[in-house]
Amino acid sequence: MQDLIGIVLGSGLGPLADRVAVDRSVGFAEVDLPVSKVKGHAGRFLFGRLGSRQVIVMQGRVHLYEGHDAKALTAGVRWMHSQGVQHLILTNAAGTLDPAMSPGTWMMLSDHLNLTGTSPLEGGPNFVDMTEVYDGSARESFRQLAATQGMELHEGVYAGLRGPQYETPAEIRMLRTLGADAVGMSTVLEALQARALGVKVSAFSCLTNWAAGLSPTTLDHAEVIETGAAAAASMMSLLEAWCVA
Ligand code: 6GU
Repeated sequence: MQDLIGIVLGSGLGPLADRVAVDRSVGFAEVDLPVSKVKGHAGRFLFGRLGSRQVIVMQGRVHLYEGHDAKALTAGVRWMHSQGVQHLILTNAAGTLDPAMSPGTWMMLSDHLNLTGTSPLEGGPNFVDMTEVYDGSARESFRQLAATQGMELHEGVYAGLRGPQYETPAEIRMLRTLGADAVGMSTVLEALQARALGVKVSAFSCLTNWAAGLSPTTLDHAEVIETGAAAAASMMSLLEAWCVA
């Protein structure tokens, strides 16, 4: 039996669901999950098929900056696990800190910095190993598939912050020093929750913009949504290829 795959769609990445053959849809409220009010988030699970795999697509994750705590915002991960998800694919919109990774391209997470100051595992389980949060053998497969498809897929470290504001140029220089390649406001807590449940994790950042100080222009949420929508197609092809392989 092949793993049931869970896919979490980030801000502006809703179009990623377009190639999923949907069988049924479950609203967050129907299963007592918190609902997001941020533009670009729908708040539902789609059950269907992608390639030759069964998938559950989560549209409309919630964030710390909306006032949800680490436990509440990872309820969707626990619910997908209860439905049988064995491999979780997290996507997000992020700022790039690396001059070699331009906006409009994707970065696969090799690791993360949890800078949210919280964890969904508070209260247990304690001391879960996080040596390899982002599954190494899946990363190798994605690397090869991206090369075959001629897709520019970077790999690096994602810094997860609370938001809701974007960072200052000084904060971005600090994050660079800490080893971050991209920065955003999601993903890390969901990845921690999934690993604690023994669920494999892969994650991808849609690099929607330069982080502050790396470009002369200021940051804007609408730009993040637009760039995400434009880049969604290439990620869908990659995920589809992975689900066929
Ligand atoms: Cl530059 N920072 C953070 N924290 N989140 C983002 C981002 C930047 N760009 C998209 N999401």
